[in-house]
Amino acid sequence: MTSRLQDRICIITGAGRGIGRAVALAFAAEGARLVINDVDASAAKEVAAEAESIGARAVINDAPIGSVQSAESVLATALETFGDVDVLVNNAGILRDKMLHTMSEEDFDLVIQVHLKGTWACGRSVVQHWRPAAKKEKEAGELTRYRKIVNVTSPSGLIGAVGQSNYAAAKMGIVGLTKTWAKELGGLQINVNAVSPTALTAMTEPLLEDPVAAEKRLARFALGRYGSPEEIAPTFVYLASADSNYVTGQIVCVDGGLVI
Ligand SMILES: NC(=O)c1ccc[n+]([C@@H]2O[C@H](COP(=O)([O-])OP(=O)(O)OC[C@H]3O[C@@H](n4cnc5c(N)ncnc54)[C@H](O)[C@@H]3O)[C@@H](O)[C@H]2O)c1
Repeated sequence: MTSRLQDRICIITGAGRGIGRAVALAFAAEGARLVINDVDASAAKEVAAEAESIGARAVINDAPIGSVQSAESVLATALETFGDVDVLVNNAGILRDKMLHTMSEEDFDLVIQVHLKGTWACGRSVVQHWRPAAKKEKEAGELTRYRKIVNVTSPSGLIGAVGQSNYAAAKMGIVGLTKTWAKELGGLQINVNAVSPTALTAMTEPLLEDPVAAEKRLARFALGRYGSPEEIAPTFVYLASADSNYVTGQIVCVDGGLVI
């Protein structure tokens, strides 16, 4: 165990399972204090208990990401429990895959709401909280504290994917948010990057159920396999830590060589 995130207050949305859970536990192992958000409160509680069992402080928040109200709720949990926030990981997500001609308005709106609006709203709330302090520190020549946002996009958000016009649009939108926020916030030493992962989770396991389709899918990965959430998490640690203080506006593919 190292301490690259010692006492950093980190919000992770959708951290009840999958990639978000692995990120939360990797952050805990680095000494972070955690706000574990998930719409599934019992899953969030289990992750909080796991984080506490390795010595981290953790609190849960079960607001459904996708609105300004939920974003404010997550921020309020961080401020009430720990008094501040240093890192925001916008990870919560869902799929509603359908071909364009069969996709309902509801399927389109929900995916855009959770991923794109949710990322925007959480980023906005946290940045509204950060700006006054960061400006004061800058004016005093004391802008030494780092603040970080790590968004989550997808190979679909970089190259598109059949059956995912809602998801690809949302994830491409998150690329736009990442690059725009990096430009808007760099002057206050706020780093904004995104990870484009692929990992075997509840979200992706169904894609491998049919062996023929699975073989075809895995052939597209240079490494020939899906990663585990634990193989994705170290990149989030890097992007949340001082090690990445000179990195901003980047999309980091941790995808076994799917997008090259
Ligand atoms: N697994 C992959 O290969 C892959 C590939 C590309 C991108 N991603 C992205 O990574 C992120 C995590 O995916 P995963 O594979 O771990 O998925 P997952 O389904 O295993 O976990 C997602 C978590 O988010 C929670 N969640 C869903 N909607 C929520 C909401 N509105 N508010 C709060 N929590 C909510 C779920 O309850 C769940 O615990 C997502 O943004 C996903 O789009 C995953």
